Amino acid sequence: MLKEYKDNFYRDDSRLHLNNAGLSPISRPARDKVFYWAERFYQEGFYSDKDYMSDVFHSRVSLAKIIGCNSNEVAFFQSTASAISQLCFHFPLSTGDEVITWDQEYASNLYPWQEACKRSGARLVIVDSEKDYSTPVNNILSKITKHTKVVAISWVQFLTGSRTDLIALSKVTREKEIFLFVDVMQGLGLHPFNMKEWGIDAIAGGSHKWLTSPVGVGFLALDTKHIEKIKPHNVGAYTYGSCDDPTDLFCTPKKDAMKFEAGSKQVLEITALGASVDLILKTTVLEIEKEVLRHSSGLQRGLIDLGYEVHYNNSSIINFLPRSDSAARLAAIPCNFALRGPGIRLSPHAFNTDEDIEKVLKALA
Ligand SMILES: Cc1ncc(COP(=O)(O)O)c(C=O)c1O
Repeated sequence: MLKEYKDNFYRDDSRLHLNNAGLSPISRPARDKVFYWAERFYQEGFYSDKDYMSDVFHSRVSLAKIIGCNSNEVAFFQSTASAISQLCFHFPLSTGDEVITWDQEYASNLYPWQEACKRSGARLVIVDSEKDYSTPVNNILSKITKHTKVVAISWVQFLTGSRTDLIALSKVTREKEIFLFVDVMQGLGLHPFNMKEWGIDAIAGGSHKWLTSPVGVGFLALDTKHIEKIKPHNVGAYTYGSCDDPTDLFCTPKKDAMKFEAGSKQVLEITALGASVDLILKTTVLEIEKEVLRHSSGLQRGLIDLGYEVHYNNSSIINFLPRSDSAARLAAIPCNFALRGPGIRLSPHAFNTDEDIEKVLKALA
């Protein structure tokens, strides 16, 4: 299975992909899907109408499977930020309410909630991580007050890969009727996840990291019990029905998450995302996680043996404090990486090989 997964990625030994937490190469099925729809649109135009819509629907179903929700709870957007904006600008917040988040959140999660708090008079409570960048759930729980309305955090932090225990967190948020929102961008497709079973109210993420598909798709999954309360941010033909409906000044929005998709969609990107998710589901997330953790823990051990200080939290992300020539040595392989937070961030995926990891460690020795 894993071999089949790896075979579905382009291999070029002169380029190492170790910034998959930034932008991962896309899978072969994702690439094929883009070509497929480009060709059909080129040849058929409107004659492909029904087929492309049913392929977009297939992507919605596949994505719902990997999220652990129903397909009618999933809405597509252009980015994670736009998916989060949809939720937070229409979430019923008012003066005195509190929204809790971590101090190391990626801007696509932090800024929308910060702005929603500004507009509504709510207070954004920023919780300190530990000195080693870990994000223990107790730090969040200790900040919950009777004013807390939302906890809005990333599952896996983009700087250091620190993971928050969502099951422990949701036990408390459910008991206290606090809305739990999770940015799953750095974890979905990489670690097993289940929105419903874990008691999470809403999640958002995007296509181009661990889901190995083209840049340009964000998604929101919102539990059915909240959908009616959240008004659509963008409004168009698809908010109410389809492009074939007569114009109506008194129509009511759809009852499912599709009401958040105002108009036509990014068919090539969304169907490519579905194809990549199918590959992940076929391989299984558990297999992918096992391989990723084998690579990341191998990197961690190797870097420690070489005398580097390493931040590692049992995810794909390793962050180490570089020496003066570390970046140049990596660039010379060449291997891509990111400068993030305390140091250099490396993030192997399951398609990476043992030789990739050895090459990096040799270059940094
Ligand atoms: C935690 C997290 N959320 C979201 C994103 C992406 O946000 P957007 O799709 O808005 O560019 C990233 C990284 O790019 C991220 O690390």
